[in-house]
Amino acid sequence: DGTGTAVTGAGTSHDQRTAAGENAQTLTTRQGHPLTNNQNLRTVGNRGPATLENYQFLEKISHFDRERVPERVVHARGAGAHGVFEAYGKVGDEPIEKYTRAKLFNTPGKQTPVFVRFSTVGHGGHSPETLRDPRGFAVKFYTEDGNWDLVGNNLKVFFIRDAMKFPDLIHSQKPDPVHNRQTGERIFDFISNTPEAMHMVAFLFSPWGIPANYRQMQGSGVNTYKWINAQGEAVLVKYHWEPLQGIKNLTAQEAEAIQAKNFNHATQDLFDNIKAGNFPEWELCVQIMSDDEHPELDFDPLDDTKIWPQDQFPFLPVGKMTLNKNPENYFAEVEQSAFGTGVLVDGLDFSDDKMLQGRTFSYSDTQRYRVGTNYLQLPINAPKKHVATNQRDGQMTYHVDSAPGQNVHVNYEPSSLNGLKEAPRTAPEHTPLYTGRLVRQTLDRTNNFKQAGERYRLHEDWERDDLISNMVGALADADRKVSDKMVELCTNCDPDWGQRLADGLQKARSGKTAEGGNQYNESKAADAVAQAEAV
Ligand code: HEM
Repeated sequence: DGTGTAVTGAGTSHDQRTAAGENAQTLTTRQGHPLTNNQNLRTVGNRGPATLENYQFLEKISHFDRERVPERVVHARGAGAHGVFEAYGKVGDEPIEKYTRAKLFNTPGKQTPVFVRFSTVGHGGHSPETLRDPRGFAVKFYTEDGNWDLVGNNLKVFFIRDAMKFPDLIHSQKPDPVHNRQTGERIFDFISNTPEAMHMVAFLFSPWGIPANYRQMQGSGVNTYKWINAQGEAVLVKYHWEPLQGIKNLTAQEAEAIQAKNFNHATQDLFDNIKAGNFPEWELCVQIMSDDEHPELDFDPLDDTKIWPQDQFPFLPVGKMTLNKNPENYFAEVEQSAFGTGVLVDGLDFSDDKMLQGRTFSYSDTQRYRVGTNYLQLPINAPKKHVATNQRDGQMTYHVDSAPGQNVHVNYEPSSLNGLKEAPRTAPEHTPLYTGRLVRQTLDRTNNFKQAGERYRLHEDWERDDLISNMVGALADADRKVSDKMVELCTNCDPDWGQRLADGLQKARSGKTAEGGNQYNESKAADAVAQAEAV
């Protein structure tokens, strides 16, 4: 229930011998020396000075000085839980082997342990969980074939379709480099020059940008992946998590009311529900397309700013995930967990999605820096199966990944002296054929506005009202060059969206309305409060 003392999640296995006069609760240094006085420095007389040979103090304080590792550069604020994924053994009504040979899906009722980390994106490790932001939804499946990480978000689309633009996107959403505050002007300066972001804006600035908690939100892999069957044939897939608790989002006002009292509400909600035995569940669904360019569609299946219409590509359930155990130590399990889009098992593959390929370099690169070279030896990240490599050494080597019976002198391959051997191939590789010029070009079917306009019209009235109000709040103090461009882009999506944004901005600027206070615009938020009080 999260109150136990043994950090089993961290996998400690100390020798538990005790010396005479000690018992299991005796406080020691990390060297195993019993500590008889943990209250006082060793000093010359009780008024000091202190001496430098004070090993017990030096060990304690120097460990404290190193308690933090760098935060994740994005998704720093998170909460995690353990659970289980249970396969249905089919995809919709079809045998799953037709599409993928991944073993975790193949038998009805097969259980695979999982660890999930939910997160917000833009701000630091202790920022409020009520902020308007995508929510991360990262799942690590400890499968019999090694780990599979499905690193997704709650929303089904993304701001950009090319990994080259990611650092710029994130810089525009992070706090200003001078005064260290996030501003609507910087966010929309980037977006107004990035029209492919409009679909994401239609979601993010509506109540869908503030999920009520982590349990009542969807998840999506967002990028396009492949499934590979026993013949080595591929299909394109997208992954979606559907919460069996239902979906709940907040208006800006509802979020502000929660934030005034609790800036940890989503972490608390997840922990308390699991502790109470109210285990959250999600169904994993996939959408499938044949592995080609699909010229009949008005978008490219590799474009992560687009959804695949459900009437053409239905959601097909493949299994269910239940989160049933809280972490026992936040740092060991949640903070040090490391997910990456490159972490796939046999039967799952990458597509040519350019975002996905850029992401795949970025995750393990940052984790070698953030957690350390041997991050995959930490129990939360290590596969729950046989691991045998010839990789050795580096900071914090915890053990040698060798196999029982292996010649320990042979840390290379190939060898005739009883070293590790390659695994036998049991199914053909997927070997797509590539011909083409090496270029720097965007996809052909950009179609930046159509699905964004459809989303605007699909919103319920209260969601559209909130979208306009939030955009007005974020843009009212922005440079006119930025807000004019945003009115133009919204008009391209739907003339009503552009008109309402223009009207809202005009009213806000002439001080006639309280519409539009929010986190990006503190002066407008203050105005809104003042006007509300005056009423
Ligand atoms: C975290 C890079 C796009 C979902 C991260 C981290 C990096 C990163 C460097 C920090 C990882 C760590 O410190 O462990 C990128 C790049 C992207 C990209 C370069 C685009 C080219 C996306 C997209 C999604 C996403 C499209 C959603 C599908 C996440 C999630 C996390 C994360 C959920 C947090 C994982 C955790 O809980 O540890 N990303 N990202 N990212 N990213 Fe991305």
